[in-house]
Amino acid sequence: MFFLQRCAATAIVVCLLVVLPAWAIAQQNDVNYDEAKIPPYMLPDPLVMADGSPVKDADAWTRRRRPEILKLIETEMYGRSPAPRQDMSFEVIESDTQALDGRAIRKQVCVYFSADKAGPKMEILVYLPAQTKAPVPVFLGLNFNGNHTVHADPKIHLSQSWIRNKGTAVVDHRATEASRGTSATRWAVDAILARGYGLATIYYGDIDPDYDDSFQNGVHPLFYQPGQTQPNPDQWGSIAAWSWGLSRAVDYFETDDQIDQQRVAVMGHSRLGKTSLWAGATDQRFAIVISNDSGCGGAALSRRRFGEKVKRINTSFPHWFCDNFVKYNDNEDALPFDQHMLIALMAPRPVYIASAQEDRWADPRGEFLSGYHADPVYRLLGAKGLGVREMPAVDQPVMNTIGYHVRSGKHDVTDFDWKCYLDFADMHFQR
Ligand code: GCU
Repeated sequence: MFFLQRCAATAIVVCLLVVLPAWAIAQQNDVNYDEAKIPPYMLPDPLVMADGSPVKDADAWTRRRRPEILKLIETEMYGRSPAPRQDMSFEVIESDTQALDGRAIRKQVCVYFSADKAGPKMEILVYLPAQTKAPVPVFLGLNFNGNHTVHADPKIHLSQSWIRNKGTAVVDHRATEASRGTSATRWAVDAILARGYGLATIYYGDIDPDYDDSFQNGVHPLFYQPGQTQPNPDQWGSIAAWSWGLSRAVDYFETDDQIDQQRVAVMGHSRLGKTSLWAGATDQRFAIVISNDSGCGGAALSRRRFGEKVKRINTSFPHWFCDNFVKYNDNEDALPFDQHMLIALMAPRPVYIASAQEDRWADPRGEFLSGYHADPVYRLLGAKGLGVREMPAVDQPVMNTIGYHVRSGKHDVTDFDWKCYLDFADMHFQR
């Protein structure tokens, strides 16, 4: 009997060893990296209403079509977010006018999302150029690993939130001193300050830890109706929650007279690039919106089905989008919008889309094309739009009201990316 059981167990292990690699290869084969194999597709026209009537002028866009598209993308993809609670409050818990050897003013601000100071709450790390007199424009972005990782500055509070332990999906891992400054190459703090801008950043896990727990932690439960235990199919997933957190940072900026709240550029990388786009779409206080390598569910057109696809992202990250989005697994043509319409929601505000040449998973060409197909909306509103018809050469940014570059190298944020964002901000903030 015992022998038979052992045989059965061995057979299962062998089967798994044989079947799993085949399955993994099938998964890889399912990913298309060949332009010639992109199925033919038709993009919905941002300038035609859902009832088929044309959008003839800026007024019709602003009053009718823009709200229509926003509602569609909200209901079918990211999910609807609530208004902030009345009992939200801010507290500057640390500040120093002589930070970074006198080059910066540092502030650490706690945003309590409700009257309960135990949380959920988020901490905003703000650096402003030293000797700031007039209110300064700022870049705002979420970070992946804790505020203390963006710079080696020993005074940045060590994150107290759940942090992903590299290589392990979900374990309760807390930040250590050893992780200070470990993401610094992605945050050009010195260049940002030297060019007269501030930087504000927040650990995204303060808002909602990035794993699927059916929305029991993070900000979601603060907004459940009596008896509700998770969001409805059209209510916010994690990306919408992170975007909502960015808007709460702007609420704080409105109370800080050293920050120019008319000139806030929201920037994010990868899943946080998807997040910055949704933040820019839902909150027009963001004057510039920047998406770095945001890929599927961000700037890349879903209908191209190149690299990561809708089904794959919904399967790997079931908590990122609202449940309605699952309807479009292997069914991209049924989407009543595509990501060029998300980009069009920024119009006429400046938007910058960045890709990386080796980041095929995020479909650089699909990212470019969403800017290209948003261009008619910009022009209807009297803005310049993208201004080119072809994807520019590697490392050759184009900057009009829509900016775009494909940088050499891999999925990352580099000093080159930041130089482009600073140039773009100078151009649009007339500095
Ligand atoms: C994965 C995911 C992407 C996402 C990226 C990231 O690769 O498939 O959609 O952009 O993670 O956020 O790092």
